Amino acid sequence: MKRVRKAVFPVAGLGTRMLPAAKTVAKEMLTVVDRPLIDWVVSEARAAGIEHFILVTGRGKGAMEDYFDHHVELEATLAAKGKTDLLAEIVSALPREGEISYVRQMEPKGLGHAVWCARDIVGDEPFAVLLPDMVMDATPGCLAQAVAAYEQVGGGNIVVVEPCPPGEAHKYGIVALENRQGRLGRMTGMVEKPAPGTEPSNLFISGRYILQPEIFDILEKGERGAGGEIQLTDGMAALMKSQAFHALEFDGTTYDCGDKIGWLRANVAMALKDPKLADAARAALRPLFD
Ligand code: G1P
Repeated sequence: MKRVRKAVFPVAGLGTRMLPAAKTVAKEMLTVVDRPLIDWVVSEARAAGIEHFILVTGRGKGAMEDYFDHHVELEATLAAKGKTDLLAEIVSALPREGEISYVRQMEPKGLGHAVWCARDIVGDEPFAVLLPDMVMDATPGCLAQAVAAYEQVGGGNIVVVEPCPPGEAHKYGIVALENRQGRLGRMTGMVEKPAPGTEPSNLFISGRYILQPEIFDILEKGERGAGGEIQLTDGMAALMKSQAFHALEFDGTTYDCGDKIGWLRANVAMALKDPKLADAARAALRPLFD
């Protein structure tokens, strides 16, 4: 069983649910408290043992490349002012040279296509996919839980799922399971954006995956699914004919930060969890509800 060393972050999406901000700010650069979404998700991947980070970017997403690079002038200014803690925080969050790659998805053809764009950098080994809209609050982190499940079942493919709010299944990928034991179950099917009332369960695919590289041969065919897009869910469903897939209901909370309310909740929740901010945040927020 090969270790999961690489992770793909599809970050080319337009962010229409976060307009007008997303017109000029990559939605992945919107902040939850003081860190952009992409930083939360890259940190989650690093904590799960990921060694190489592959961002599938697009037009207008250059800020992420600058974010994961030295800012020489800023660092010099912080050093000159003696702001050593802040300087250390900024520098320690950077990837080492060569640990991060960028590849452009040149047309918005869907999530499956975005993942396929990373094929040459991933190569012939298992890899993780993390959707940066989804900020997961969990200990251990969500991807670390997925890696533990991958090791427990002896490899194959892992899809993280969670219960879907009533009436919302048509917005997501939904899985079918059998032999569920604890948080893990063997997947028997999946469908992207099922018509209301046809969903095979109430468990939706929440944005963390561990996949085998054979998925690329399937995505290569470019078959279109829901919304006329090349869907990762359809590619996985095809791969499931020859490989095992397990669904993991992870232990934690997901915030869908591609959505205004989800993003707002993430900001409040993470501020209340931050020991440096919690008391002040609580005192500042409480009167808003009186
Ligand atoms: C994508 C996936 C879907 C998943 C969802 C989670 O959909 O295709 O299976 O449930 O992310 O956010 P999208 O949000 O791009 O429509």
